[in-house]
Amino acid sequence: MSIDVVAARSRFPALSRLVAGNRAIYADGPGGTQVPESVIDAVSGYLERGGSNLGGPFVTSEETARVVAGARGAVADLFGATSGDEIAFGQNMTSLTLALGRALARTWSEGDEVVVTRLDHDANVSSWMQAASESGAVVRHVDFDRETGTLDPAAFDAVLSPRTRLVAVTHASNAIGTVVDVAEVAARAHDVGALVFVDAVHYAPHGPLDVDAAGSDFLAASAYKFFGPHVGALYGRSELLAGLDAVRIRPAPSDPPGKWETGTQSFESLAGVTAAVEYLEGLGEGATRRERLVSALEATRAYEAELSRRFLDGIAAMGHVRCYGIPKPAGRTPTFAVAVESMSPAAVAARLGSQGIFVWHGHYYALEVMAYLGVLDSGGLVRIGFVHYNTPDEVDRVLEALDDLG
Ligand SMILES: Cc1ncc(COP(=O)(O)O)c(C=O)c1O
Repeated sequence: MSIDVVAARSRFPALSRLVAGNRAIYADGPGGTQVPESVIDAVSGYLERGGSNLGGPFVTSEETARVVAGARGAVADLFGATSGDEIAFGQNMTSLTLALGRALARTWSEGDEVVVTRLDHDANVSSWMQAASESGAVVRHVDFDRETGTLDPAAFDAVLSPRTRLVAVTHASNAIGTVVDVAEVAARAHDVGALVFVDAVHYAPHGPLDVDAAGSDFLAASAYKFFGPHVGALYGRSELLAGLDAVRIRPAPSDPPGKWETGTQSFESLAGVTAAVEYLEGLGEGATRRERLVSALEATRAYEAELSRRFLDGIAAMGHVRCYGIPKPAGRTPTFAVAVESMSPAAVAARLGSQGIFVWHGHYYALEVMAYLGVLDSGGLVRIGFVHYNTPDEVDRVLEALDDLG
């Protein structure tokens, strides 16, 4: 099973966009991916048919209930969860994580400990710092290896203790692409009785997720990073979602997953979430949606490793470009943080942008990563990120553009 990139690309209207006469290159996937036409149709179809809030005795409200249930089931299959009841939606991953942090803080007390890493996006750092400060818990940091870009699960041993209540760890870094052995981290965390929160926002479009294999008690992702609309999704183990005291208003549902969803959801976006999952499963093979999703994302991983190899080989030959993180395709996503000699990251991104090559610059909210690499105060780094709709030719065009800066 392999990815048919030509067929996949033809599904995405945005990919045919021209900038200054050039075909645009979307190397900004880690900041948000483009969507296939079927997602656009699902969003507009919901609005066209007539939308409604939940709970009314009429057809549009009943349809909305089916849209919500459909999206829960689709994301449960994407995450490898048992049931859609384990999936709550929200505006984005950050708002869901902040809300979970407030709920967990109610169960912590003075002197409890929370572990975060320096490889994480700030949503998976600050949310827990705030929860800790509300409860008197202490925050412990785990460093990654600056030279290799890896995060060794054994590094958690130094900070884990019987007082550890939560370990928050990313599945993959949105800054330097490192994939973390979350299962190994979770095993260590569970050994001391801590809960595990996995940030799968960056990892989700790059490989199969499996909440059980990852050892996650909670796992969050965002559909706009996996070819869907702007919606966040949170998985929690059923007994935790049921037992914890969510921050909610009085008439809101008291049972999960509804109790974790504040106010009215973006139903049109949830229709789009299901379509995004269906797009992904269409890239794979198998008897069930789950099997098709796993096969699609395994094929994605293999295809993207080739893009990584091409990019890393090209960069290695350029004296004026430094690439941070793991220097080989294994153990990383095709997300590269680079610095160009004598040019600010903002200037590099602007130069590439003027040629229709979309890349991010700065810290992309990975504050700890940038501070630890010593580049936070000098404008961060340029982030070049590929997904399965990018091609080897696009990688070459990005490499040529970088070469021209030397
Ligand atoms: C790894 C990672 N975690 C969390 C977030 C925050 O996600 P959201 O924008 O859904 O709040 C991002 C967004 O870039 C991310 O890349």
